[in-house]
Amino acid sequence: MIDFVFNNPTKVYFGKDQLQHLGQVVSGYGKKVLLTYGGGSIKKTGLYDKVMTGLKEYGLEVFELGGIEPNPRIGSVRKGAQICKDEGIDVVLAVGGGSTIDASKWITAGACVDFDTWEFFSTDKKPEKSLPLVTILTMAATGSEMDAIGVISNPETNEKYGRSAPCLFPRASFLNPELTYTVGRFQTACGSADILSHLIETYFNPGESMYMLDSAMEGFMKTVIKYAPVAMAEPENYEARANLMWASSWAINGFTRTCQVGGWSCHPMEHELSAFYDITHGLGLAILTPSWLRFCLDDTTVDRYVKFGVNVWGLDPDQKPMVIARQAIEKTEEFLFGTLGLDDKLSKVGIGDENFSLMAQKACKGTFINGFKKFTPADVETIYRMSL
Ligand code: NZQ
Ligand code: ZN
Repeated sequence: MIDFVFNNPTKVYFGKDQLQHLGQVVSGYGKKVLLTYGGGSIKKTGLYDKVMTGLKEYGLEVFELGGIEPNPRIGSVRKGAQICKDEGIDVVLAVGGGSTIDASKWITAGACVDFDTWEFFSTDKKPEKSLPLVTILTMAATGSEMDAIGVISNPETNEKYGRSAPCLFPRASFLNPELTYTVGRFQTACGSADILSHLIETYFNPGESMYMLDSAMEGFMKTVIKYAPVAMAEPENYEARANLMWASSWAINGFTRTCQVGGWSCHPMEHELSAFYDITHGLGLAILTPSWLRFCLDDTTVDRYVKFGVNVWGLDPDQKPMVIARQAIEKTEEFLFGTLGLDDKLSKVGIGDENFSLMAQKACKGTFINGFKKFTPADVETIYRMSL
């Protein structure tokens, strides 16, 4: 077992009535607030008005940046950072899903430097400081509400990169499951696939495992498998939405990775799909995951699949290991493509093989992906072809 340091500084306000504390929490960081949001869902749901009322009660001066894109772009980050500099913003309040929160993280960092924010992605520069960030989460998926990662796209160069730094943790996040009632079936499915992928990528780790963490991850995976279909069928089921929301945060807030030695594989491969084709992150992950599981299965890895199959999918442990492993992959497929109803092939979402070679090179950053198994660009290309 490896040594580790665990420090997650995000204060979480979870539940139906926690937004009453919004004004007080935000005003703790200053008077001038930049409110950031996406394409308008928060206006349709009435959340925008509630937020404004909460902020105005505390006499806060509110500036706005709306229109942050799904797969958020560096242009939005640049705009936000400029507003922060021009207006002397004290605190950023992000209201939305992972895209709005990710962009806002880099806005808080970009506001504190005098170079272009994309340099945090194109060079080794790391942010040392940032403006404080508070978030109100509106969909369960990425875990951005409780982690220090922000993923940004540059459409001019077809690049999409995630970078992290301790200063990017939100100071506080408001998690009200009721705010996710309006998330449609497709985004609920994609968000659930994303949460599951964060867990699978961590669970299938080349290092030694820890019983306590394995059991926790198995429980989180079972939570997604149990409640995603409920939330899709009954959008206003509080129990389902609450379980998904809290699972989203804990799948990627650092806890499950405390014992991990290897990196992730499906995420870098998927980020190339979204970078080139702007597809929804969770959908890309769903399509790649079964192929990736098949590609990595051999005598050296089979034990992990058996544990996954027996403890998560309830498979009969008295079968041959390879049989259990293959059944576990089939169960995962059935869930992603049957229960969640997501497309199962890249070709069905408009992706051909025209960029596979380049995307594979980029996913490996010119070398390799060091995840559950070590992948060369040729391996990545094979997985793309298996998913075509
Ligand atoms: O933009 P609006 O109008 O708000 O609509 C959004 C958007 O169209 C809508 N939506 C969000 N909350 C809603 C709602 N619609 C109705 N009611 C609500 N309550 O849903 C759509 C998708 O939103 P988005 O924020 O893009 O989704 P998600 O949370 O899945 O974020 C995806 C982004 O996060 C990155 C992904 O790569 C992608 O760019 N990731 C971030 C990670 C992190 N920070 O740790 C890790 C992940 O692995 C991931 O890479
Ligand atoms: Zn993800």
